Amino acid sequence: MKKITLLTIILAAVVLFGCQKPKAIVVVPEPVEVTPKGGQFTIDDKTMLCFDNLGANGTETSKMIRDLYESYFKLRPNLGDAESAKKNSILFSISKKEIKDIGDEGYVLEVKAKRITVEANTTAGLFYGMQTLLQLAGTDKLADSKTFAVPCCQITDYPRFGYRGAHLDVSRHFFDTAFVKKYIDLLAYYKINKFHWHLTDDHGWRVQIDRYPELTRVGAWRPERTSWDTLHPVMPDEPMTYGGFYTKEQIRDIVRYAAARHIDIIPEIEIPGHCSAILAAYPQYACDDYPYTVAVGPYWPPKAIMCAGNDGVLTFYKNVLTEVAELFPYPFIHIGGDEAFNDNWQVCPKCQQRIQDKGLKNEFELQQWLMNQIEHHLDSLGKKAIIWDDIVSDDMVNTSTIMCWQGLDVAKTAAKHGNDVIMCPTTHCYFNYYQSKDKDERLCMEGYVSLGKAYSFDPMPEGLSEAQQKHILGGQCNLWTEFVNDPETAEYMILPRLFALSECVWSPKEKKDPKKFATKVDFERNLMKKLGYRPSNRTVMELE
Ligand code: ACM
Ligand code: ZN
Repeated sequence: MKKITLLTIILAAVVLFGCQKPKAIVVVPEPVEVTPKGGQFTIDDKTMLCFDNLGANGTETSKMIRDLYESYFKLRPNLGDAESAKKNSILFSISKKEIKDIGDEGYVLEVKAKRITVEANTTAGLFYGMQTLLQLAGTDKLADSKTFAVPCCQITDYPRFGYRGAHLDVSRHFFDTAFVKKYIDLLAYYKINKFHWHLTDDHGWRVQIDRYPELTRVGAWRPERTSWDTLHPVMPDEPMTYGGFYTKEQIRDIVRYAAARHIDIIPEIEIPGHCSAILAAYPQYACDDYPYTVAVGPYWPPKAIMCAGNDGVLTFYKNVLTEVAELFPYPFIHIGGDEAFNDNWQVCPKCQQRIQDKGLKNEFELQQWLMNQIEHHLDSLGKKAIIWDDIVSDDMVNTSTIMCWQGLDVAKTAAKHGNDVIMCPTTHCYFNYYQSKDKDERLCMEGYVSLGKAYSFDPMPEGLSEAQQKHILGGQCNLWTEFVNDPETAEYMILPRLFALSECVWSPKEKKDPKKFATKVDFERNLMKKLGYRPSNRTVMELE
């Protein structure tokens, strides 16, 4: 009898005081500092969304935060300001006095039972605070609840690196604007702030250029082959039905979309290799008179290279980049430079003449000279070049930012040389590689980056002086699409590995913990499914 009474009292206490088990705090990327407090705030249909001191682009910021709120919670909030932010309210405000240490992307989020506040120095910080808030309400989102418990806590958070990127190759397979927006939403959710858009390659040219209409009339289309693995060239009468390109209007729309999510776009125009699509459209820019077509399948090494001895090629690139610079209002344009197989240059009289005229030693220096010409043109447009690390050498005169895919040694050489560096080594950041060794794994590009391996990525190479470390801007993952035919496969390849990348570029090094990370993966993956993404179900934390 006594026992029953005690049990009844405990049960009554649970009902009366709401002593539920505290909700877990699962945030990816792991924040700098999380202090759990007891209790919870409940988001419901009476919750007010309030804004204060948002500054010049306040209307866009409050609209963005409200849109995120409505689409995630399926609730319409009442709106208010600092005055009306009393109980059951969430207040977003730019701090009147600069908050120390959190920089221009950090935020301070405080969840109390009656009120949530998000404070930052900038609207970007508020945006990231909002993303964390959504994650804190994840348990009830998963449960399809009509109200959303947010565990009480204090979070102070800011990124480790200023450059946190993800790349998408839209040349090998074309992805329409709806998917590009979905991809950008995904990046924003994980606090990625750079979208590297690989717009040109052998397998298709994807951006409208008014001065060179053949680039998209011819260069954007190839025969439809379901399997990338069949190695036979384009037949003369094969219909060129597969492909597509983005009009300038579509690009401007994507730029606006990304900007609202605090993402800069890094457009990439490949120079001087990976250019079969250009040469199919404008064969006069080749060294030879080979009948180039937009490529199908894995020809290797690709023979196509633009003639570096032809002044018309320089004019072509300068004109193209002038139009690209107008489309993308950011400091950086990526100008490729990788895998430029120069066999044609070795036997081309014009290229050899250029080498002589400019006093260059060889074809490698010819490529460096060409990239430098383009870099100067970008300078004149107020832009800076990013180049793949293939051009790095001890005596380079190039001042571009180097994107390192081939390993730490090249990165160190570039940083020691004084160039800024973005890290994306194949060993950790190539999400087109296999993510498991399971027999039924999908066909991927040869190579292996398990989730655990991706998580072990540290963008900061060891052995750099403090001054050299300042040249490491951050890191990114790359999604090449030879074997990624469609949006579903792209989502499968990037998730869950993007969870790992986001912690590598955002979270403090000392906060990284593979065991804790592994416990968050299922939850995070299920949330992604709830939001309409199709991640891989595999969680391989082994490194090899
Ligand atoms: C590259 O993977 N060719 C940059
Ligand atoms: Zn040539």
